[in-house]
Amino acid sequence: MNEIMELKTELKKLAEDASLALKEAKGREGLENLRIAYLGRKGALTRILGKMKNLSLEEKKTVGKQANELKKQLGESFKEKLLQCKEKKVTEKIDITLPGIKPKLGHLHPITLISNEMKEIFKGLGFDFVTGPEIENEYYNFEALNFPEEHPARDSFDSFYLAPNILLRSHTSPVQIRTMEKRKPPLRIITTGRCFRRDAIDASHFPAFHQMEGLMVGERISFSHLKGVLTYFLRKIFEPDIEVRFSPSYFPFTEPSAEVSISCPFCSGTGCGSCGHSGWIEILGAGMVNPDVFKKVNYDPEKFTGFAFGMGIERIAMLKYKISDIRDFWENDLRFLEQF
Ligand code: DAH
Repeated sequence: MNEIMELKTELKKLAEDASLALKEAKGREGLENLRIAYLGRKGALTRILGKMKNLSLEEKKTVGKQANELKKQLGESFKEKLLQCKEKKVTEKIDITLPGIKPKLGHLHPITLISNEMKEIFKGLGFDFVTGPEIENEYYNFEALNFPEEHPARDSFDSFYLAPNILLRSHTSPVQIRTMEKRKPPLRIITTGRCFRRDAIDASHFPAFHQMEGLMVGERISFSHLKGVLTYFLRKIFEPDIEVRFSPSYFPFTEPSAEVSISCPFCSGTGCGSCGHSGWIEILGAGMVNPDVFKKVNYDPEKFTGFAFGMGIERIAMLKYKISDIRDFWENDLRFLEQF
């Protein structure tokens, strides 16, 4: 009888101690330690129950019942306290008065930015923007542009072939043909886009690059229109006081053809390393549309004349922003991109 009384008192004491300790417990870790101390496998309750073995069956039942109730009650109290702990933690974490973290915003790539700037200038002159495919066939990339088969000029466009007759376009000039097939003159169009050539990579060559192409066709379009439009464009995109020079060149799709240079933006024409000490930097190709090209698209070469031009967009961007390595445009290094 004594033994059972003792056990009951011990259980009662344990309940009182535990609820006191629970009130004072701090933090999740403190709570967990307390739970282990009272209810764990080697905890206080297990120790008391260990003393039951000398009791009669009847006594075991009453003490067992009391112990189970206590266990349940304490267990619930722990859970409740733990929940309070969690809630507290969350409210502590969010301080709505703190300033937020500004999300990093991206922006357009420098090649897109300069393309847009170039397009705007031509838009102001009444040119429409058109596009064409990056995957071409030999007809549009070469033949319709008057590159005869086996013509050595095809070599200079060392191209990426995807299949016989199918290649990644090596310039944007095929868009001239595609547009003239669809539209009747007069027309004024420009296009921009990616081009591909099997060039070895160095500071000024990359196998993928961008070009802008322009074409103007009508009655009585002359070389002076070409000079006027291109000089206007170059003085807009660079400085209003740059010099523009036209010198004879050769392209199969233009006759006559010209190579256009500007006075070196690095030394203003006095001569430096960037311009090979000549004071000039070649910037684009142009010319009067070859009558043979007009015949391919069923334009009457007796009635219509026109001029065309093409230029590398990376080259324009490099000169304008004084970038010395074309690879910078492809590396996506934020330290470079963030400057634009
Ligand atoms: N397609 C030429 C190239 O990639 C550039 C060019 C030159 C385009 C003269 C033209 C042009 O339209 O008239 O080198």
